[in-house]
Amino acid sequence: MNEVSDLCVVLCVALPDEYHPAALERRLRRRLDRSTLDRIDRLRQPVDRLRSMLGRLLLRHGLRLRGLDDGAGVTIGHYGKPRLVDGAAEFNLSHAGRWVVCAISRTAVGVDVEQVRPFDLVLAWRFFHRRECAALAVQPAAAQHDYFFRLWTAKEAYMKALGLGFQRDMASFSVAPRADLHVALDDPQMSPQPYVLSHLGLDPGYRLALCHHGEPVTVLPVTIEHLLSPTIIH
Ligand SMILES: CC(C)(COP(=O)(O)OP(=O)(O)OC[C@H]1O[C@@H](n2cnc3c(N)ncnc32)[C@H](O)[C@@H]1OP(=O)(O)O)[C@@H](O)C(=O)NCCC(=O)NCCS
Repeated sequence: MNEVSDLCVVLCVALPDEYHPAALERRLRRRLDRSTLDRIDRLRQPVDRLRSMLGRLLLRHGLRLRGLDDGAGVTIGHYGKPRLVDGAAEFNLSHAGRWVVCAISRTAVGVDVEQVRPFDLVLAWRFFHRRECAALAVQPAAAQHDYFFRLWTAKEAYMKALGLGFQRDMASFSVAPRADLHVALDDPQMSPQPYVLSHLGLDPGYRLALCHHGEPVTVLPVTIEHLLSPTIIH
């Protein structure tokens, strides 16, 4: 059996269907340190602050599960990618709609969640590789938005694993989602390719992609109450 520290752990938490944003924010704030809050307070939308706070609480929970220091400092690195100061693990966060996701691994990791929604598909022609545009064009009309988000999340998870985010030209590499949820990746700038890219099941209205170095993956849904539970020592 694998030790937790050998796994790539993907922790997920959802905002409830109904909640009082100010009351929830007050509860979450009590669990976070001043410097984290100062950064989060720059976000103007309450829901953005809540999701960012939940991301940090998921990270701390995941570090505890791995037997690591859950109070480890986080520093913002190149192109805005947050990293642990002590380098004890790699992590990446993503949030969209009601979901917040945190992937923790020994080695570089990227994660992206997006809510599948109607979208101007012209964006694909602006940002995607020609092979991706061709694959999107042959999808049945009813499946095109979902396919768009399968491409988008896979590409973004890869760019986040690299730590570049949108600094990387999205059209400079291509992805090809497969029926088994694995995603083929072709990047002329990186050969041999050390990353494994896949989609993970989360919620029918969302797409979640993970890019990592191939460790076994475990998905761990948690609740906000669990993250706030007094039995969890932060
Ligand atoms: C990273 C990026 C792709 C995220 O886009 P998004 O779809 O809006 O957001 P997601 O919810 O998927 O991810 C947000 C999280 O990604 C992480 N992140 C930020 N920059 C990152 C980067 N360069 N690489 C990987 N992850 C990054 C953060 O943890 C952030 O959440 P937090 O602010 O709550 O901690 C986008 O912000 C980007 O390209 N940033 C880099 C751009 C840049 O050059 N910035 C320079 C300023 S330092």
